Amino acid sequence: MEKAIQYINDNKQRFLDELFELLRIPSVSADLKFKDDVAKCAESVADHLRRAGADHVEVCQTNGHPIVYGDKIFDPSKPTVLVYGHYDVQPADPLELWHTPPFEPTIRKTDIHPDGAIFARGSCDDKGQMFSHVKAFEAMMKTDSLPCNIKFMIEGEEECGSSNLGPFVKANRDRLKCDVILISDTSIIANDTPSIDCGLRGLSYVEVEVTGPNRDLHSGVYGGAVCNPINILAKMIASMHDENNHITIPGFYDAVQELNEAERAELNKAPFDIEAYKRDLDINDVWGETGYTTIERTGIRPTLDCNGIWGGYIGEGSKTVLPSKAFAKISMRLVPHQSSDKITELFKKHFESIAPKGVKVEVRPHHGGEPVVTPTDSKAYLAASEAMLKTYGKKPIPTRGGGSIPIVALFEKELQVKTVLMGFGLDSDALHSPNEHYGVFNYFKGIETIPYFHHYYSK
Ligand code: BES
Ligand code: MN
Ligand code: MN
Repeated sequence: MEKAIQYINDNKQRFLDELFELLRIPSVSADLKFKDDVAKCAESVADHLRRAGADHVEVCQTNGHPIVYGDKIFDPSKPTVLVYGHYDVQPADPLELWHTPPFEPTIRKTDIHPDGAIFARGSCDDKGQMFSHVKAFEAMMKTDSLPCNIKFMIEGEEECGSSNLGPFVKANRDRLKCDVILISDTSIIANDTPSIDCGLRGLSYVEVEVTGPNRDLHSGVYGGAVCNPINILAKMIASMHDENNHITIPGFYDAVQELNEAERAELNKAPFDIEAYKRDLDINDVWGETGYTTIERTGIRPTLDCNGIWGGYIGEGSKTVLPSKAFAKISMRLVPHQSSDKITELFKKHFESIAPKGVKVEVRPHHGGEPVVTPTDSKAYLAASEAMLKTYGKKPIPTRGGGSIPIVALFEKELQVKTVLMGFGLDSDALHSPNEHYGVFNYFKGIETIPYFHHYYSK
């Protein structure tokens, strides 16, 4: 391993330059305007894999954005690690809130990143983390120290639902055969407090449409006499939390796995500074379900959030109108053993049942995903734990992540293999927000830790 680590130290500037090149490609998967850039980014990832020493590198076309595959199989008697990551990014808007342009990476110091952070869309989620696997692989290849077989599957649709990855996995079961899946697309607690996510939440996502009168009306002539769909929608959304911030959809909690007191106490042992959390977000207080801590609210409890709401007149000045329609996008984060389809169904039934007679409602389901819990006693988890102990000097704390990577549950189902979520980002790195960044420290710590994972896992 020493030779690989030396190689990494000798090539740091180039590793940064190459990540910058990748970050300059605006690979926004949700917006078809960027389709060519997404394709260009896939080609670039494939080139990097080839140059690092991978075989069978292929940019696999799908009905959506391509999936990049590559591998290095040198000894079938050794274990095989499948590295998954994504090269697509979230849309960058609102653009005016970025201090520097989202696709022109720059390094600036922050309080949390005194060594500097790379500001760019996708720097943390997930180009920086994904690319650290490519660079760690290069370091092992160039120093003859790859201890196991390795496969890469880097997708371009994670941020818009991974709808073509499921069919790809099903159609390529043999090619993807492996002993464990390794993903760096989650967070650690802090740069001096390493942790490993052992669970991710699932997702159920719907769009709702509420229709009142058949056309926009004069709010003086008709106001007060006809349902206003925006007023109604606002009330319907508000009614979905009770005074304890409990979700009111009947049956919503039926399948929720309740942790026992000992498990909850263990979870809450993780260091968490609520004052720093509030300061970072500039809020006076936190919010959430009565009876649960902030760690529990994001880790082991389901949620319901309105992600966007629109309708009526939002142009300049005023227009006295009673709108015909109102819309909202609503997401629910799920925990074991809730099922995404089931929750979507419960939502639809409930939403329709609480609509007053004067409106019509329509619920349109979007993509979803199942929650997962990953083991903390597997050989792979222990290898990740030992690798982090080696490079951070502290044993990582097992945590539960609040975000979702829906494909993880699918990997388990289709490939019958478990995942290790060895992430290196921070929750405060502004993923999906303006001014996303990734610590230079975090980038190199990832590149150094990954070879140790392969080393311990192959022992
Ligand atoms: N990398 C995130 C998920 C994540 C972030 C997990 C931080 C744990 C900690 C991923 O790219 C993501 O944003 N997923 C989406 C899934 C959705 C688009 C289906 C999410 O969580 O909203
Ligand atoms: Mn991600
Ligand atoms: Mn993301």
